[in-house]
Amino acid sequence: MENIQKKLQETAAFIRHLGVGEVDFGLILGSGLGELAEEIEDAIVIPYEEIPHFPISTVVGHAGQLVYGKLSGKFVLAMQGRFHYYEGHSMQTVTYPVRVMKELGAHSMVVTNACGGVNQNFAPGDLMLITDHINYMGNNPLIGPNDENLGPRFPDMSQAYNHEYRMKAKEVAEARNLHIKEGVYVGFSGPTYETPAEIRFVRTIGGDAVGMSTVPEVIVAVHAGLKVLGISCITNLAAGMQANLNHAEVVETTERVKEEFKALVKETLAVL
Ligand code: HPA
Repeated sequence: MENIQKKLQETAAFIRHLGVGEVDFGLILGSGLGELAEEIEDAIVIPYEEIPHFPISTVVGHAGQLVYGKLSGKFVLAMQGRFHYYEGHSMQTVTYPVRVMKELGAHSMVVTNACGGVNQNFAPGDLMLITDHINYMGNNPLIGPNDENLGPRFPDMSQAYNHEYRMKAKEVAEARNLHIKEGVYVGFSGPTYETPAEIRFVRTIGGDAVGMSTVPEVIVAVHAGLKVLGISCITNLAAGMQANLNHAEVVETTERVKEEFKALVKETLAVL
């Protein structure tokens, strides 16, 4: 094993040396949802390229920096931009920042994404609390020798997405009169969007939304013992349910709902 613990200690030491102290929540901000980091108070901003052992994000619309500070009274370490499997990173690389959150003391992670709606009751612009996921990415970040110091060999995924956190987010949404959805997120590797046949398959196997992220990070978060809250922004109807798909629409939809999204995350964080 290429000494992941030593790397994690080096990364964490570098981040701490810049003034990062206590961390309660790790935050992963998906496509178009990164603006939330601008609301973090007394922010310390750390570009990924400066962080030892961090990869560099290549996706347009992802800033590529860590932002640390207080949000809703909680110490958060936010990723403005994440790493995707389809960029060519290994699953271990994609999930390295989750290990770093844990190393810095986080007990929980809020993970967000932009995704396609498969459930016929969903519309673009809906927000969805992730109840569970299906790993259809053809890989798993825990494949390889298991380091018992990081977590168990066979992690239980029965409650990957914390029920209590989800109920609190739901209460916040209801109080805001926001008709929040709930559902199962199915992770594909991308970078192609799915085919209409794949979307019919997703519906058959119990999926409500599809995307190209989140699953690896949540697997590692569970392995590391982090409690997870997952929030998806349905940016489009999945393939075959609308005329065609493009990244511009994804960006447009996140732009349209970002204020609702930011309010939901902030108000939820306040009560977690
Ligand atoms: N499929 C996969 N990933 C996505 C989609 C989609 O329809 N929309 C945004 N990310």
